[in-house]
Amino acid sequence: MERFSILVGDITLSDAEAIANAANTTLLGGSGVDGAIHRAAGPELLEACRRLGGCPTGEARITKGFRLRAGHVLHTPGPIWRGGGEGEAALLASCYRSCLALAAEHGLRTVDFPSISTGVYGYPVSLAAPVALRAIMGFLEDNPLPERVRMICHTEETAAAYRQAWNMWFAGEASEKL
Ligand code: APR
Repeated sequence: MERFSILVGDITLSDAEAIANAANTTLLGGSGVDGAIHRAAGPELLEACRRLGGCPTGEARITKGFRLRAGHVLHTPGPIWRGGGEGEAALLASCYRSCLALAAEHGLRTVDFPSISTGVYGYPVSLAAPVALRAIMGFLEDNPLPERVRMICHTEETAAAYRQAWNMWFAGEASEKL
């Protein structure tokens, strides 16, 4: 099984043990993938999130998935893009690492991510992709769990950005390992 892959799809349909949610710091829902996940999960998700009392940017909180096929949701507020000089890359990397650490702590084997911060929060996907991939691959190198991580891109354009970043940064290593 590939430990990491990039797909085009709707993360609310994912059957992974956990899906990550590109949330905001209130954790009380929003538009974009946050809105889609809350709509698909049903009102119990909002009730569970209310009890969490918010989450700082770059950290993650876990809830059940309720009506989602995914058993859990990893809520993580990504950084708002402000030009790149306000620590956005470090905060974005922290979102991915925090979600993966939480999944590993809960013994979860499969995690699907959306492209955090690259929608409403304005993070250019060509800049976000290498940050996300380095954070994910770095965590997987050091940890046996999760066994499988997927980037679920909503559009072919987003997937192309992640595939380009993959080819630039990792394809060489992979071919060396063959
Ligand atoms: N499945 C997978 N990806 C999706 C889906 C979906 N159903 N819907 C949207 N996306 C993608 C977007 O195309 C984008 O690539 O998720 C990525 C993240 O975009 P946003 O959802 O806008 O999230 P973000 O940029 O992190 O902004 C977060 O938006 O929805 C609010 O409450 C949220 O305030 C927070 C902010």
